Formats: sequence, structure tokens, C-alpha cells
Amino acid sequence: MARIPGVRERGRSGMICTDISIAYFVPMPNNRHIVLRQRPAGPIDPDHFDLLRCRRPEPAPGQAVLAVEWLAMDPYLRSVIAGRHLGAALAPGERMPGQGIARVIEAPADGPVQPGDPVVTDCGWTEWVARPAEQLRRLELPDGVPPQTALGILGMPGLTAWAGLHRVAAIKPGEVVAVSSASGTVGAAVLQLARAHGCITIGITSETKLDYVKEELGADFVLSRTGDLPARLAAGDIPRFDVAFDNTGGEVLAAMLDHLALHARVVLCGLMAQYEQSERPPGPNLGPVIGARASLHGLVVYDHFDALPEFLATALPLYRSGRLRCHETVYQGLDQAPEAFCALMSGASHGRVLVRLKQ
Ligand SMILES: NC(=O)c1ccc[n+]([C@@H]2O[C@H](COP(=O)([O-])OP(=O)(O)OC[C@H]3O[C@@H](n4cnc5c(N)ncnc54)[C@H](OP(=O)(O)O)[C@@H]3O)[C@@H](O)[C@H]2O)c1
Repeated sequence: MARIPGVRERGRSGMICTDISIAYFVPMPNNRHIVLRQRPAGPIDPDHFDLLRCRRPEPAPGQAVLAVEWLAMDPYLRSVIAGRHLGAALAPGERMPGQGIARVIEAPADGPVQPGDPVVTDCGWTEWVARPAEQLRRLELPDGVPPQTALGILGMPGLTAWAGLHRVAAIKPGEVVAVSSASGTVGAAVLQLARAHGCITIGITSETKLDYVKEELGADFVLSRTGDLPARLAAGDIPRFDVAFDNTGGEVLAAMLDHLALHARVVLCGLMAQYEQSERPPGPNLGPVIGARASLHGLVVYDHFDALPEFLATALPLYRSGRLRCHETVYQGLDQAPEAFCALMSGASHGRVLVRLKQ
């Protein structure tokens, strides 16, 4: 098995133990998982993780055994590592949490899932996991739709975009919708869903992804987050934003707030610019929000899971017609998960970042 730089492996092999009267074999570990080794003080790198070998879980009564096939790399995991997420913090030595798609291998006969069924679940960064069968549902996707889209454009990130646009900002055709981190999964969905609704769209992204956001995602205007964004916005040719959907915070948010239309709605969705900082930076200048009589809305996707069918009723036809898509960066094997996550957090990756696990 390949060893990734910085990721230590422990519990590598089985062992023959002998004494005078007996010889017995301690079984080889047949599962692997990734734990947090150390909380980073600044930007995260693969050295902050350990890859451990362990035994596959034995199911307790009522549990199903799952083989993980895909892992989603999500920015909220960085907040979990920092101890700043809405839910529990992760202590060093604990297994990385996270959503994935897994295949049911063993399950109670009378449960809601059966062997062979794919499921979306909070499996964490592991190859095999046991979960209460009652909490699992078979993943149903129409023919021809790749399963990993349920972790991306047709899953939680897509729903986040939809909920922010329709439930929080209540977008109307003809309005100007600007989104930061526009090349990411949430950003890509925001752009394309807003466009499909008849809005004028503006994508803010890094220099290297401008063409992708314009050509592939169809943004009407693209702006570089790494250039002089305030000066670019002041140039006069970019319409003011009726809706500012922010995924980054920091200077990008400050520039967006300075370019609001009257009665704009600002959707505060994420903080890519500050997840890697150990200290919370000083807040943005909110003066322009007052001047524009704008409202700021905090968005948490957990409040909107009931809208999944409504979201999919819009998103699936768009997906099938090629009008809702997202680039995927796929890493192979659990040992690549730390590298994949660090690339996501540094901005080096592109689009939905996934890890494909082969059993
Ligand atoms: N509120 C909720 O319920 C909810 C739910 C899901 C996700 N979110 C949030 O939504 C945001 C987007 O999520 P996503 O999954 O689609 O991730 P993502 O946008 O793909 O995140 C990675 C991207 O962030 C961008 N970025 C912007 N500023 C950055 C900076 N200072 N340093 C590094 N990267 C930076 C980079 O894209 P560019 O190079 O294009 O700028 C990078 O590729 C995240 O903040 C996430 O936490 C919130």
C-alpha cells in the first residue's frame, strides 16, 4: 500500500505471538481510517492526519455494515477540526467525520436497506463502518446520474445553493446575483440555478478559474478575487447586486457589501477566507449594508432538508440537460483524503473534491 508523505501509518500488520505452549495469530487489520493527529495552528496540511490500520467493525444488533465508496471533502470539516462548528469539536486521535456514499454489505433482514444498496451517510474517513440500519435509506437516483452527484451538485451543497437563493433571498427573474467562490460546488450551483431562474449572474473566483466560471458555468460576468476587486467593481460596468451570496467572508465580502443595490439581500453562507485562521479576524465594515437598507441572512442548510424534493424537482431536469454541472476533482484511495482536503482548503483544487475508495 502506498504511504502518503506526512501521513503516518500505525498497526500495519498482524503478528505471530508464541509462548512455550501455544502459538496464535493476531489477525491482520483489514480496515483503515484517518484520524486527526494534531489541531493545526494555521493552514492545514497532510501532516496533521494519521492513517491507521484497524479491524472491520462487527455489527451490533440492528446495525448494517457498509463499505465506503466515495467521501466528500467539505469545508465545514475544517471548522470541526478547529472546534468552531455548530456541532461537536474533533479532538486529536479521533476519526475524521464526513459524508460519503457507501454500499450495504450486511444488514438486518427486516431493515430499510439490504445488501447491495447504496446509501448516503455520515461514514467518516474510513473504508468500512457499521451504522444503525434504521437511520439508513437506499440512495435513489435516476438512471444515468452518477452516484457521487448526491454528495455534490444534487446533494447537500446543491441544496444549500437552492435554499439560499429561493428560501432566504427569494430571487426574482432579472435580478443580479453575485456569488463568491463561484467555481466551488455551492458557488457553481448558485450561478446555474440563478441563471436558470432568469437572473443576471456574477461569479467571483480566483484568476485561474475565471474561464471555467464564464465558459462552463455561464456566468454573465466574472471577477477575480485575487485581483483588485474593489477597483474592478468601482469601474462602473458591473451592475450592483440584488443578491450577494457569500462563501468566503473577509475582503471579498467587504467588496461585495460595497456594491449592493437598494434593498439587496446578502446570504452569508461560508467563510473560506477565514477557516484556516486561528484567530477570528476583525469584522467587515457594515456601513454599506445600512446605506443600502439591505438585510443579512445567515444560512444553515440543516434547516432546509425538507426542501430536498422541491430542490431536486428543479435541479434534476437542469442536470440532465447539462445546465447544472460541476467539475469534479477525484482522488483515489483513503490515504489520499488528507491531501484532497488540504487542496480544497488552500484553493488549489477545482470544483467538487471527492475521494474514491476501492474495496
Ligand atoms: N451554510 C451552510 O449550511 C453551508 C453548507 C455547505 C457549504 N457551506 C459553505 O459554502 C462554502 C462553499 O462550499 P463548497 O463545498 O462549495 O466549497 P468550495 O467553494 O469548493 O471551497 C473551496 C474554494 O474556496 C475558494 N476560496 C475563496 N477564498 C479562499 C481563500 N481565502 N482561501 C482558499 N480558498 C478560497 C477557492 O475557490 P476560488 O479559487 O474559486 O475562489 C477554493 O477552491 C464554504 O464556505 C462552506 O463552508 C455552507
